[in-house]
Amino acid sequence: MAEMPAPNGTGRGVIVRAERIGKTYGERVVTEVLKGIDFELKQGEFCALTGPSGSGKTTFLNLVGLLDQPTNGRILIDGQDTGALSDAARTDLRGTRLGFVFQFHHLLPAFTALENVMMPLLAQHGRPAAWMREKAAALLDEVGLSERARYRVTDLSGGQQQRVAVARALVADPMLVLADEPTGNLDTETSSQVMELLRDSNRHRGTAFLIVTHDEGISSQCPRVIHMVDGRVDWERNDSPT
Ligand SMILES: Nc1ncnc2c1ncn2[C@@H]1O[C@H](COP(=O)(O)OP(=O)(O)O)[C@@H](O)[C@H]1O
Ligand SMILES: [Mg+2]
Repeated sequence: MAEMPAPNGTGRGVIVRAERIGKTYGERVVTEVLKGIDFELKQGEFCALTGPSGSGKTTFLNLVGLLDQPTNGRILIDGQDTGALSDAARTDLRGTRLGFVFQFHHLLPAFTALENVMMPLLAQHGRPAAWMREKAAALLDEVGLSERARYRVTDLSGGQQQRVAVARALVADPMLVLADEPTGNLDTETSSQVMELLRDSNRHRGTAFLIVTHDEGISSQCPRVIHMVDGRVDWERNDSPT
């Protein structure tokens, strides 16, 4: 599928804008984890976030994902200044615009693959409905797991579990998926399959991705890479089409 043209023809729209983001932890002993990060992500971008352990990647991702709030600066998602929103509005924005994939899939072990994929829709709309089941089934098909829909996630392999997690992240049609070391727990071959799946979703659905990885084999294949060191952006490479 072709990339969606921006409505005004001036290139793709900005979906995330972070301005001078700072984050400190602690009160008596203050640790400055993020030291003024400026960042912009456009519709449909596929961007890796790299850097040594402790450089602030997860902290930054959690801020963009509205799971935490910055100490300084502001974050705009889809044009909305998220610092000005109520908790309910932030939760709603997170549920409708963002999807998440974590290193350890965070699936609910007592439930089937299908039920896990349905979960974000259920959380958003309250009660189960037939369309949610259909939507979840379609997503499991998309990630190549239709025959495993009724399996408990504990009966699936690590790679399959991560595919379920990807389907779950996409089920509510987010504009952006945030992934924190999504292949950190997988062998090389399974890692590249999961990465391919993310890239396919990016190409076919136009979903933007921001992916934390310390695997250079993975980041080298991403059109855009942001490298963090010590709470700052150290360098950036961007070969995305504009
Ligand atoms: N809740 C917290 N309280 C105190 N320090 C934290 C907290 N979360 C992260 N840190 C510190 O912030 C730094 C960056 O952590 P993190 O964002 O997890 O880095 P990365 O994901 O790049 O490994 C680390 O030094 C870590 O110890
Ligand atoms: Mg981390």
